[in-house]
Amino acid sequence: RLASSAAAQTRWRAPTMTIAILGAGAIGQLLAHQLASSGCQPLLIVRPDKCCQPLQKFTLETRNGSYCRMFPCLAIDAAAAEFSNINLLIVTLKAYQVVNTLLALLPKLSQHCQLLLLHNGLGPHRQLIPLLAGRGLSLGTTSQGALRIGERQIRHTGSGITQLGDITGPAMPKKLQSQLLQAIPDSEWCDDIMPALWGKLAVNAAINPLTAIDNIPNGALAEKHYQQQIQTVIAELVKIAKFEGLSLDNDTLLQRVNQVISLTATNYSSMQQDIQHQRLTEIDAINGYLLQLAQQHDVELPVNQSLVAQVKCLQTQLMRCSH
Ligand code: PAF
Repeated sequence: RLASSAAAQTRWRAPTMTIAILGAGAIGQLLAHQLASSGCQPLLIVRPDKCCQPLQKFTLETRNGSYCRMFPCLAIDAAAAEFSNINLLIVTLKAYQVVNTLLALLPKLSQHCQLLLLHNGLGPHRQLIPLLAGRGLSLGTTSQGALRIGERQIRHTGSGITQLGDITGPAMPKKLQSQLLQAIPDSEWCDDIMPALWGKLAVNAAINPLTAIDNIPNGALAEKHYQQQIQTVIAELVKIAKFEGLSLDNDTLLQRVNQVISLTATNYSSMQQDIQHQRLTEIDAINGYLLQLAQQHDVELPVNQSLVAQVKCLQTQLMRCSH
C-alpha cells in the first residue's frame, strides 16, 4: 500500500511552471539559486558565447557555506520551440539592455508568458508595453546584495526586501506569484508597485551619481556637503512624481536614502563600479528618467540635470580611453 500511495503522490504532483531568467549577472544567479532551493528548476537564458553546455555549474557563497548547483542554460539565439514552454521570464539585465534584447526575444515567447523586469531605475517598461502583444508585465525591485566573483560564482552580500507587482496586461498567475514569494526571502506582492519602485529610484538617484562622480563609497555621502545635494535631488524627484500622479513623502524618502547610506557605508554603488570598470552606466534610467518626465511636463530639474551631464561626460571620457 505504501508503494502504491507513493506512486499516486508522484502521479498527482501539480505540473511545475517553467521559470526562466534572462541575464545571469549577480542578481540573476542569486534568484536562480533561491528558486532552486525552494524546489523550482530555473532555466538561464544566456549569451550564445556563454552557453558552452546545456547544464552548467553555478556556485553561491553565503555566510553559512557554499552551494553548487547545475542549471540548464539556453542560448538567447536558440530556436523558438525551446522558449515556448516558459511561463515566467524574469529579466535581470541592465536597464539599457532590456528593450533591445526583448525585441528579439518576444516573438519566440508564448502568448501566455508573463514578464517580470528587475533592474535599477525606471523607463524600459514604457517602451515595452506596446510590444507585449497581450502578455502580462510585472515589475519589481530588490535590495538584496550579490557580488559576482567569477563567471558562474556569486557571493550573497546582504539581505533586503524584494517587492513585486503587476503593471499591465494579465496579472501574474497566482501559482507563479507564490513560487516567487516562497523562493525569495523577505519578498512581498504589492497591489500598487509604483511607490516601491519610486522609493528605490530615489535611493539610486541620490547615491549612484554622486558616488560615481567623486569615486567614493556610499558612506562618504553622510558628509554635510553631499547631504545638501541629496536633499535637492529628492525634492526634485518628489516634484516630478507629483506630475505623474504620485504623492511621495520627502522626509520618508530622505530617511530611506540615509538608512541605505549607513547600511551600505563601505560598499561601492553599481554606478561607481560601472565607471571604474569603464562600462555603460544606468544613468538614463535613474536621474535621466526624471529628466525625461520633466521634459514631458515642461519642468526644470537643475540638480538632476547637472548630475546626468557629469556622469555622461565621465562615461564618454572613459569609453574613449578604453578604445
Ligand atoms: O545601485 C546600487 O549600488 C544599489 O542599488 C544601492 C542601493 C545604491 C547600494 O549601493
